[in-house]
Amino acid sequence: MQVIERVTELTATLEARRASGVAVGLVPTMGALHDGHASLIERAAAECELVCVSIFVNPLQFGSLDEVGRYPRDLASDLVVAEKAGAGVIFAPPVEEMYPQMPAVGVHVAGGLGATLEGASRPGHLDGVATVVAKLLAMAGACRAYFGEKDYQQLLVVRRVVVDLSFPVTVVACPTVRAIDGVAESSRNRLLSRSEREAAPVLCRALRAGAAAILAGESERSEVVALMTAIIEAEPLVELDYAEVVDAASLRVPERLEGALRLLVAARVGATRLIDNVGLAG
Ligand code: PAJ
Repeated sequence: MQVIERVTELTATLEARRASGVAVGLVPTMGALHDGHASLIERAAAECELVCVSIFVNPLQFGSLDEVGRYPRDLASDLVVAEKAGAGVIFAPPVEEMYPQMPAVGVHVAGGLGATLEGASRPGHLDGVATVVAKLLAMAGACRAYFGEKDYQQLLVVRRVVVDLSFPVTVVACPTVRAIDGVAESSRNRLLSRSEREAAPVLCRALRAGAAAILAGESERSEVVALMTAIIEAEPLVELDYAEVVDAASLRVPERLEGALRLLVAARVGATRLIDNVGLAG
């Protein structure tokens, strides 16, 4: 497995391999790799001859330098996880390599997609994600790029980055990997204390209860939101940010609970913000 820090080397390496007929898969990450990341890398390795995993904690998508500093980092263990899952190239640039100067130009996520849910709760976050993903796709060139449904709104944003900015990239969506108690795997889970980790399954429990209510015939969105809210608010260590049911394609609040839907929650568990979601097919 080759570890690359420079953009020119990454671009030249992937370009050379493509020229010899190799299909390239790209798995963008911020490191602290876990089973969720490994599932993306394994899927990419099953579908592409060369898998590149990028590891970069992108300051543009955080609200403060404090948050960037708090984000877990463990490159040595990441290299082991990535190689075991089938990565051939790791791109782990220093921050000056990605941002040699404060960017004057970036990607803005406009309209409802940018303004709702994570867009409303974390101003600038989705723009920061869209900008770094556009940069990574520009550096990597034609490829299949793998993203998790765990970050559902991000997945929709990435699809729009590819279409709206015409990248020669196929986006592949991968299902959420969960721990046995239902908690979605996340690098941020490492920041939870034992009691916070024990409280964390309430997010998934609320989502499953909301989905079950809709499947059992509940047709009032506000009732489903109230149910999820009550479940999360009953857990003292968890502070709800939002619980919502939206149209899976547009993220708009639906008039009626029909068609493909997505239930999403965001909450603070102690000082750590967690998000999760589940889908309901139409
Ligand atoms: P990060 O949180 O490291 O996640 C990298 C990729 O792994 C994302 O596509 C995310 O959706 C996916 N992922 C995370 N947890 C998962 C789980 N439990 N099951 C399945 N997939 C999971 O998301 C980011 O980094 C960044 O925003 C990034 C796209 C790299 C841009 O900086």
